[in-house]
Amino acid sequence: MTASRKYHITTFGCQMNKADSERMAGILDEMGLIWEEDPYQADVILYNTCTIRDNAEQKVYSYLGRQAKRKQTDPNLTLIVAGCVAQQEGEQLLRRVPELDLVMGPQHANRLGDLLEQVLAGSQVVATEPIHIVEDITKPRRDSTVTAWVNVIYGCNERCTYCVVPNVRGVEQSRTPEAIRAEMEELAAQGFKEVTLLGQNIDAYGRDLPGSLPDGRHKHTLTDLLYFVHDVPGIDRIRFATSHPRYFTERLIQACHELPKVCEHFHIPFQSGDNEVLKAMARGYTQEKYRRIIDKIRELMPDASISADAIVAFPGETEEQFENTLKLVADIGFDQLNTAAYSPRPGTPAALWENQLSEEVKRDRLQRLNRLVEVKAAERSQRYAGRLEEVLVEDVNPKDPSQVMGRTRGNRLTFFKGDLGELKGKTVAVKITEVRAFSLTGEPLLDRVLVAN
Ligand code: SAH
Ligand code: SF4
Ligand code: F3S
Repeated sequence: MTASRKYHITTFGCQMNKADSERMAGILDEMGLIWEEDPYQADVILYNTCTIRDNAEQKVYSYLGRQAKRKQTDPNLTLIVAGCVAQQEGEQLLRRVPELDLVMGPQHANRLGDLLEQVLAGSQVVATEPIHIVEDITKPRRDSTVTAWVNVIYGCNERCTYCVVPNVRGVEQSRTPEAIRAEMEELAAQGFKEVTLLGQNIDAYGRDLPGSLPDGRHKHTLTDLLYFVHDVPGIDRIRFATSHPRYFTERLIQACHELPKVCEHFHIPFQSGDNEVLKAMARGYTQEKYRRIIDKIRELMPDASISADAIVAFPGETEEQFENTLKLVADIGFDQLNTAAYSPRPGTPAALWENQLSEEVKRDRLQRLNRLVEVKAAERSQRYAGRLEEVLVEDVNPKDPSQVMGRTRGNRLTFFKGDLGELKGKTVAVKITEVRAFSLTGEPLLDRVLVAN
């Protein structure tokens, strides 16, 4: 019944959504559907959605509107909304877009096969009830053949006052170390070289798994997991995201320092550089603690690259408090910073507060912060000039097909002349000749392919 039908998935939002989309695509492949690049040629359209800010949510509705119109003339079209908007809106989405066939929350991603069967049998289905996430058995259809995401913990138990994630992703659910290692071994067997371990709050890994040590510590932590998976043969690089300053430990920093495959790149969102604002956000740390974490990282790994997320114009944020964020950014010097103006989200405490700031203040602060970020990132980039960097080649440079692109261990995008067929999946020593704020260009030392497989 599904044979030769064509599907398309459009993914919005974060790495968790990208990983979920790859697993859902794997399920559809397994069912005999065929990937179609052009959403307007596909018979099954799946939007994997994000609702972190209002503009992310609105974007989904505009895409959906166009497909819903198409369905009016093509009733065989199957329209699916998955991910975080699906979870947030649930049945209300059906009232808003009656043409939808299936609305499914992120916890149901691995159940897509069953749910689609119900749709094809003629039902309109909503799957948003909280469930225990089933360990998936299908092979994801991965975007890359070099780097892969591996989920280690789903959900989030924090209650940051601005954030919808706990509402839409549910409570923390860790996968077992054995399942994670088995997935990495499978990836290595398929030729993948780099793995990014994923969790919304990856430092929470293991606290929901059974077992504790005689000293009362949890038996399973992110640090222990890194030691446990580190020697998977064939995997050359390991990354992890996203770290939470509240739970980030010295033991973890020590492990990253000790374990050669773990890349010296840390993504640790700070959100604000002001202690009062951090308190109102319910983040559970101070800006001093954040600085101590970065100091400790740099003590052991002076060259480590540091990235983060920050929010400007949180309700009640004064000019002075905003300047504390600027000060933190100026002092630390991030290699990259994702910035956003605060956006009130349904079902979160801060959305109900009366001290919301105007759009004008939001725009102004965001611009000022972004200008500083660019200056600082350009400064940080300078340290690469003339240096030899290890670049794992992933793809061609989409803007110049005579070049390939890859990343340094510090996660800087790097371009150099070369042939993808020859270099894909190889780690090449590249002499950096040009530095920009967020990317580098260099010359390969091709007699120095570091890991030739
Ligand atoms: N789990 C991660 C972040 C997840 S959401 C953490 O704890 O840091 C990704 C980023 O979106 C956040 O770091 C935050 O900077 C931003 N964000 C989340 N909710 C937001 C909101 N309501 N308005 C603006 N930015 C928001
Ligand atoms: Fe959201 Fe906070 Fe959880 Fe991050 S830690 S996902 S910001 S609630
Ligand atoms: Fe967006 Fe959901 Fe990720 S809201 S940022 S896709 S967890």
